[in-house]
Amino acid sequence: MLYQSRPRARDIRVSSLNTTVVPDFSHINYCFLFHIACFCPAGIRITASAFFRHLRKRMGPGNSLSPRLRGNSRPGIRTAWFRLLRGVATVYAVLVTVRATFYLASNIYQQQYHSILDRHDTVAAPVDSALLLAGSFGASIHPNETEIIPYFYQAKRNPIKKDITICTIMTLGRVEMFERLASIHDGPISVTIHVTKRDMLPDIDAMWAANPLMRQNVDIHVIISPHLREFNTYRNMARLFARTDYIFQFDVDFATTTDFRNRIISDERLMNMLEQGNNAFVVPAFQYRRDANVEPSLKDFPKTKEELLPIYKAGRGDIECFYHWWKPSHAGTNYTYWIGATDIYPVTQWNTAYEPYVIIKRNSAPWCDARFIGYGDNKVSCLFEYYVSGQNFWVLPEDFIIHQTHSNLNAARKVGFEYNRGLYVAFQEEVCLRYLNFFAQSGDLDTSRAENMYTQCRQYDGFRKWEKQIISITT
Ligand SMILES: *[C@@H]1O[C@H](CO)[C@@H](O)[C@H](O)[C@H]1NC(C)=O
Ligand SMILES: *[C@@H]1O[C@H](CO)[C@@H](O)[C@H](O)[C@H]1NC(C)=O
Repeated sequence: MLYQSRPRARDIRVSSLNTTVVPDFSHINYCFLFHIACFCPAGIRITASAFFRHLRKRMGPGNSLSPRLRGNSRPGIRTAWFRLLRGVATVYAVLVTVRATFYLASNIYQQQYHSILDRHDTVAAPVDSALLLAGSFGASIHPNETEIIPYFYQAKRNPIKKDITICTIMTLGRVEMFERLASIHDGPISVTIHVTKRDMLPDIDAMWAANPLMRQNVDIHVIISPHLREFNTYRNMARLFARTDYIFQFDVDFATTTDFRNRIISDERLMNMLEQGNNAFVVPAFQYRRDANVEPSLKDFPKTKEELLPIYKAGRGDIECFYHWWKPSHAGTNYTYWIGATDIYPVTQWNTAYEPYVIIKRNSAPWCDARFIGYGDNKVSCLFEYYVSGQNFWVLPEDFIIHQTHSNLNAARKVGFEYNRGLYVAFQEEVCLRYLNFFAQSGDLDTSRAENMYTQCRQYDGFRKWEKQIISITT
């Protein structure tokens, strides 16, 4: 009950999802009919009276039909103003009458001759929004087990289209971290919060109530599902409901302290690259060294590259590159080169474990594959598909994010890990074949769009085999 009064909670309008739905104009017709009811009687009366006056003139002065139609019986109120008003009202009433006649005639015509179109309208109009949402994330979500509530809370501030929204996902175990992030990042954030039961929603209320900056900038989308960690689905939700053209795919346990938004938005070249839809900007990720207890509070994290480098000391300082114990995951960023970089530079050495944090155009890269449920290989699978689908990766020279240390729930991490390992291996080849087919059909096999695919995919036997076949078919 508490949640029914929420303005946008359940009743997301189908049209706000940007789907093609036949618009409903019936309210206009009611208004129009009301209008007709008010003015047509007058119009008909005036027309009739004019007709009878004409008739009376023709029949001679003595033959008046009715004293009411004679017109000149109340000379006292016949001022110039009255005449003017009556003139306008007369013209208007006549126009409404004429319009109504046409309207009725054309409606009858349409019903007779355009009944096919009408039938089309009635089929397309009623779409159950809960089902539509379940369908949007259908690769992981069962139609009747999961409830999706977009804009459970909506930020007060409306972002401009050309801004960059931080898109992230969380459970209620990460509230503190998210509060810290929202307190230092004064820009749009779109977050998907997963809860297992409806009665956990008041915790979100409490978080929202306690944080004025959150109310300013954050859109909260809720997924209530008994299934755990459908991370890629949550990611897709945060991205789908973001309200800007560009998004920063982000993990909630990071902190962003640099002014990346202004730097990109005010740079015409970078904005053009983003707008093209085939460029992804990598924001290098760092962490405080785990063995030393050195992590300061968030407000003392370095805010510029100049402040960061002395602490980083090429990996020997208190800050090291992220996932120091699993280097491949961020190796493509090339931290050694980054230290001296003053301009964006391309990622040249891709590997299948690379999972950088990227800024992309919201509606260009593919969606994250929702079949990765549980820990392991979910984010990396998104990045892999971005790459094979033709996104070019560039590293930003001045910006970075820093991990906020937290304890990992190691038992939880094991769930799904082995399953996803196997899935990811199969997935790589599947993606390669899918884009081989896709580019063959779109005529892009010989364009730069397909370059990443060839670079990455020729290591898979299946791909090499199919590449030969497809090329022999298409040439
Ligand atoms: C959906 O689930 C609810 C609760 O489990 C059940 O009462 C309802 O009948 C189900 N609806 C459909 C269409 O399966
Ligand atoms: C990093 O950049 C340097 C200089 O361009 C290059 O020689 C090196 O191969 C790059 N390493 C990676 C992992 O990209």
